[in-house]
Amino acid sequence: MTLDRNLAVVGAQWGDEGKGKIVDLLAPAFSVVARSQGGHNAGHTVLVGGRQFILHLIPSGILHPGVTCVIGNGVVIDVGALFAELDGLAAQGIDLDGRLLVSDRAHVILPYHREIERLAEERRGALRIDTTSRGIGPSYEDKAGRRGIRIADLAGGAHGERLAGLVRANVEARNRLVAGEPLDWREVHADAAESWARLQPMVGDVSEFLASALAAGRAVLFEGAQGAMLDLDHGTYPYVTSSNATIGGVCTGLGVGPRAIGSVLGIAKAYTTRVGAGPLPTELDSVLADRLREVGREYGASTGRPRRCGWFDAAVVRRAVRINGIDALAVTKLDVLDALEELRVCTGYRCGEAHLTDLPADVERLEACRPVYETLPGWAHTRGTAGARRETDLPAEARAYLDRLEAVCGVPISIVSTGSDRSETIVRPESLGARWLT
Ligand code: GDP
Ligand code: IMO
Ligand code: MG
Repeated sequence: MTLDRNLAVVGAQWGDEGKGKIVDLLAPAFSVVARSQGGHNAGHTVLVGGRQFILHLIPSGILHPGVTCVIGNGVVIDVGALFAELDGLAAQGIDLDGRLLVSDRAHVILPYHREIERLAEERRGALRIDTTSRGIGPSYEDKAGRRGIRIADLAGGAHGERLAGLVRANVEARNRLVAGEPLDWREVHADAAESWARLQPMVGDVSEFLASALAAGRAVLFEGAQGAMLDLDHGTYPYVTSSNATIGGVCTGLGVGPRAIGSVLGIAKAYTTRVGAGPLPTELDSVLADRLREVGREYGASTGRPRRCGWFDAAVVRRAVRINGIDALAVTKLDVLDALEELRVCTGYRCGEAHLTDLPADVERLEACRPVYETLPGWAHTRGTAGARRETDLPAEARAYLDRLEAVCGVPISIVSTGSDRSETIVRPESLGARWLT
């Protein structure tokens, strides 16, 4: 078994780092691409020759016909959203036949999860998380509360008493919580039960499948969703998602052992974005932020919400490197910085009298932190980096910027992305990425 060929791709900031683009780029070297956590809160964009695909639940390897895609037990699945995504891909000419395996142990998102989420956000008022409103949190809450409904529970169809009992109990709980028209559990049950007929051929034991694939020497790419700072345990709690977006989520969310993960590639933008509420220490004032947002088209791939923009925060990425055991980084969207005269990199924070090199646990303390910046020259006077495919095509200032990011993050940069298309990428020779691309 050559497990060291396997690779985990994880977000090193607050999500939307460009994981989809990098996974799609690397996927031809793999036989399986697997998602282990999150749900359709994720939006992974892939651009190939002018055609755009946005993947939410389905792994970004799906565009490569030889790749089997896997959705693990750690993912929460809105079956309607899954079917809609499958239909969308089929309409775009992607052959999906026999290429998707869905874990029988994954939990489902049902309509009442979205309602409960809306209510919870309303109740939080000014302290709302600004979630993606997909029902992700409440579904994971049911899972942790041991009342969740799993894909395997749908198997009995309309005659499954277990499913009926679970749906009834959950809908009755929802009706006690949500004012107004009560929901009829029979309708929710009928819809859930009906989905089984279409779902069944895709469902199986993912842990067993991966064990056989690994034993047969098939290479597996583990595709993370969200990013380290949105991780339930390690992110800027409570302004996080409800799953483990860091490396441990791969093992629990797919049923593989830690040695199945050969290497870890962290994805980081050349600056920082975050969508939704919560601390973003390097957030820019409106003029510069607007500029980055427009040039970088920083609008959510799932919700269309404008993303907040800030300078590169090395304290954030260092934390992600440590928690995930990141071996190398892919730095994306370097081209978005092309028009800037001057760039800043945050190396730590001043918090009262203290100098911090990592994020404090308390978000209020983090909100009070002021970033400590290094200033670097931009490359606005050059022809820029957009579309560059070789390192030698990069202006000296851009190379110096990348060198500095490597130094402050303490990890090599193996891939540099200079545009959204698959082809607009620099892979450094002899680097981690080069292993899969040559
Ligand atoms: P993900 O969630 O990590 O897969 O990232 P998203 O797809 O949500 O957001 C990344 C966005 O940046 C998408 O619109 C990509 O097409 C785009 N993108 C990725 N890499 C680059 C790059 O190097 N340059 C530019 N300009 N856009 C990029
Ligand atoms: P990808 O995989 C960016 C954010 C939401 C919100 C918080 C909680 O595309 O990088 P949730 O609906 O998950 O309960 O929302 O997490 N969020 C993301 N931000 N990229 C994502 O995924 C995200 N998934 C969730 O905006 O702040
Ligand atoms: Mg995204």
